[in-house]
Amino acid sequence: MARETVIVIDFGGQYNQLVARRVRECNVYCEIYSYKTDIEKIKEMNPKGIILTGGPNSCYEEGAPTYTKELFELGIPVLGLCYGAQLMMHILGGKVEKAPVREYGKIEVHVDQTSPLFTEINETTICWMSHNDYISQAAPNFQIIAHTADCPVAAAANADKNLYAIQFHPEVLHTLQGKEILSNFVRGICGCAGDWKMDTFVETAIQEIREKVGDGKVLLALSGGVDSSVAAGLLSRAIGKQLTCVFVDHGLLRKNEGGEVEQVFGPGGQFDLNFIRVNAQERYYSKLAGVTEPEQKRKIIGEEFIRVFEEEAKKIGAVDFLAQGTIYPDVVESGLGGESAVIKSHHNVGGLPDFVDFKEISEPLRDLFKDEVRTAGLELGIPEALVFRQPFPGPGLGIRIIGEVNAEKVRIVQDADFIYREEVDKAAAEYQKANGAEPAWKPNQYFAALTNMRSVGVMGDERTYDYAVALRAVKTIDFMTAESAEIPFEVLQTVMSRIINEVRGVNRVFYDLTSKPPGTIEFE
Ligand code: XMP
Repeated sequence: MARETVIVIDFGGQYNQLVARRVRECNVYCEIYSYKTDIEKIKEMNPKGIILTGGPNSCYEEGAPTYTKELFELGIPVLGLCYGAQLMMHILGGKVEKAPVREYGKIEVHVDQTSPLFTEINETTICWMSHNDYISQAAPNFQIIAHTADCPVAAAANADKNLYAIQFHPEVLHTLQGKEILSNFVRGICGCAGDWKMDTFVETAIQEIREKVGDGKVLLALSGGVDSSVAAGLLSRAIGKQLTCVFVDHGLLRKNEGGEVEQVFGPGGQFDLNFIRVNAQERYYSKLAGVTEPEQKRKIIGEEFIRVFEEEAKKIGAVDFLAQGTIYPDVVESGLGGESAVIKSHHNVGGLPDFVDFKEISEPLRDLFKDEVRTAGLELGIPEALVFRQPFPGPGLGIRIIGEVNAEKVRIVQDADFIYREEVDKAAAEYQKANGAEPAWKPNQYFAALTNMRSVGVMGDERTYDYAVALRAVKTIDFMTAESAEIPFEVLQTVMSRIINEVRGVNRVFYDLTSKPPGTIEFE
């Protein structure tokens, strides 16, 4: 492994990816591996430092995740966090047991400022704690370097061997000086230079792609989403016309989106590549006619994508590489790297490799987290509107139209959604301008959906019998749970009034207050 790397060994904690993210914020490259990874592999990688994550188990219980003691004898600095800290103490002869007082939340921690781990850290600092067990006795040759009112060993160190154990979570933002503590470890104790930066990533990736691809042909399915767009930008900069991007417009995109993608990647745009836009709207609508069951709709949309792409791929003929916009969380969540894996299929490209004649897969973004992908995108000159796009499901508006999909319903939901996003963005920008900060209500995902309900209304002197549009806006961190966002009432009223006036076929607007669970973010 040529570049300076810190390895995170994952014991199933919920913050494992966050640990790696925070390390990378210190400009140190970091990868996550399961605790099941063999020590020989770790040795081969020759990392500059090792971090053991938290986890849900009790380290003294039989069958609990563990690691060989040899890890602490490699001469490589090790930092244990929460479960990782307890495990380090347990393995090295300390004592871990059920805590008389469970600590959870923001807790005052008193640190020993002379420890290199706590250089420049306040003597009393707020840290995020979440533990049932605690270290009642540090292992031999370890000094206690932090404590709280209820936790005698909030951190312990064997400075000679560069082994550090901390009970709290520096990776969580609630730990006020968490980033500095992690930086003290990776930059100070491990001695990393901190040269992992996005501009160097882009340059290096371009070189690597050129070396790997040679004069080969590369094919990429471009969805217009952040990941595939950045992959396209990067590949184009590296190999120009050797890259062909196929963009399937399935007629379920948001308003104007197909045009926007074409403007950036199509002829006359800023990237040199072969761009093929397939206008498959009618084909999709006819396949979807009469279909109302959500999973069946998803299946049809996914399968049709493969069919359309396959036809295009046949026209192009054999290629050397099939490129995919896989990013690091996809790799970790597919269970290839970490432990706390929830298997997630790569829905954007699911099944594609079976239908394309290619020799190898190219995944130029597979080392990057989402915000790093965005930074790389900006570095490549991809417009902000595309780089900071909100998440959009693969099946597109198909799952935001309850019941049967048809061209008329797509038009309604596109127009209503456009107005809604425009007004929310405008209100958020005005707030930001006036207050210098984002409004607390700013949602992470917001869109309009078309309910399948028609109801009676009155417009002018006429009776109407039209559709109801539902507005959704959620605040969420991980998209696994979400709260309905408190969009100001006057913004909602403006949206309602504009939708009713401007979108033919709508006479009623609802605001969805449901959180997830019990609701989901999308309607289907
Ligand atoms: P739900 O509706 O499950 O959404 O609460 C959680 C997040 O996942 C997105 N989503 C999808 N993305 N294909 C996708 O690529 C899908 O079928 C799909 N369904 C939901 C949704 O937009 C939200 O961000």
